[in-house]
Amino acid sequence: MGRDLERILIGEEELQAKIKELAGKIDADYAGKDLLIVGVLKGAVMVMADLARALRIPVEMDWMAVSSYGAGTRSSGVVRVLKDLDTDIAGRHVLVVEDIIDSGLTLSWLVHNLKSRNPASVEICTALRKPDAIKVPIDVKYVGFDIPNEFVIGYGLDYAERYRNLPFIGTLAPHVYQKDAAKDGDRSE
Ligand code: XMP
Ligand code: MG
Repeated sequence: MGRDLERILIGEEELQAKIKELAGKIDADYAGKDLLIVGVLKGAVMVMADLARALRIPVEMDWMAVSSYGAGTRSSGVVRVLKDLDTDIAGRHVLVVEDIIDSGLTLSWLVHNLKSRNPASVEICTALRKPDAIKVPIDVKYVGFDIPNEFVIGYGLDYAERYRNLPFIGTLAPHVYQKDAAKDGDRSE
């Protein structure tokens, strides 16, 4: 790893404190309600695990896996469902948990898809958001950190499936992805 990591953007303690803060807001907003939190595989695994354990209200957890076509570090908005929910969400309060909102294309598609199933509500919680990269307006109720428009790794986020296990958020040294720029293909979240 060493040289592939450029710098640490958000340290482990800062990240954990923010997740607890978000959990406190979610506890207050959904008190007395039946909440289903939906993690988007694979990136949201760390946020889901930490958020779920920080919540004090009872929740159910479910997962979706989606993939967008396009170059390695870009979203295209063309989304394919690789794994759908196990749960029927009709009439239920749904909170989608994401690692990062970049262009917003993936999540905008996902929210539209979930709303067509007639849930009581659909909201979004994301650990990270890149305001300068947004291409579609998207209403996000819970945001951990707004970050610069740089490719980040760690805390669930990968580059070519690596670095997901880092407990912090770091930036990837440009030489890593420039080297692979010619590669194209299906990118799983
Ligand atoms: P969009 O552009 O549709 O993209 O909002 C959302 C998904 O793209 C991935 N993504 C990243 N993954 N570092 C990553 O490791 C990044 O900086 C990054 N930006 C976007 C991620 O899977 C997210 O769910
Ligand atoms: Mg993701």
